[in-house]
Amino acid sequence: MNGIFISLEGPDGAGKTTVLEAVLPMLKKLSPEIVATREPGGVRVAEEIRQVILNPENTDIDAKTELLLFAAARRLHLQVKVLPALKAGKLVIADRFIDSSVAYQGFGRDLGLAPVEWLNEFATDGLKPDLTLYLDIDTDAALERIRKNRANDMDRLDMERAEMHHKVRQGYLEVVKSEPERFVTIDASQPLDAVIADTFAAITDRFFK
Ligand code: TYD
Repeated sequence: MNGIFISLEGPDGAGKTTVLEAVLPMLKKLSPEIVATREPGGVRVAEEIRQVILNPENTDIDAKTELLLFAAARRLHLQVKVLPALKAGKLVIADRFIDSSVAYQGFGRDLGLAPVEWLNEFATDGLKPDLTLYLDIDTDAALERIRKNRANDMDRLDMERAEMHHKVRQGYLEVVKSEPERFVTIDASQPLDAVIADTFAAITDRFFK
């Protein structure tokens, strides 16, 4: 596999998606062959699974079902989009990947690390990103941003109780600690320009020096 695989992680409200949109054109100047994608989704059937998972009407989806749906979407997305791009030598940037399941389902939903790690491994055949950028933000600040920015557009996971959001952040902090060589933590409470600059620098420092 000759390509480079980068994932972007962080709690809801960290600004991941906005940051990625800003960083992409900057990166395209350095590496024209970039594939930007997201989880759950990225390919048609996985986007359909995404609709099912995030639909606020689907109140009967329990934690285990949720984990399995994310794992199914992950497997499909990897097979159809990520692996072919990496084999073709491209730079792939994914908005969320395996660590989201650890933080949200493992910690947030209290399913524990073991089943999540096993399913991640099963879904990906053990593939991990070369670099994971973790956008860290205090839970209260993140919840405040969610309330301000998308009060009328909250998905099923945004609407979870504050307690779950706290656990998700704890989960992220634990994974980052357990694999320090894979992660770069970025302070997402800074003004957007600074978060964008730090994210770009983390990528260029590692791969474009
Ligand atoms: P995201 O696309 O970041 O949401 P938004 O577009 O609203 O910013 O992610 C969708 C939600 O799915 C988010 O709340 C995190 C959650 N998620 C999990 O719980 N587990 C997972 O494995 C993944 C990939 C996402």
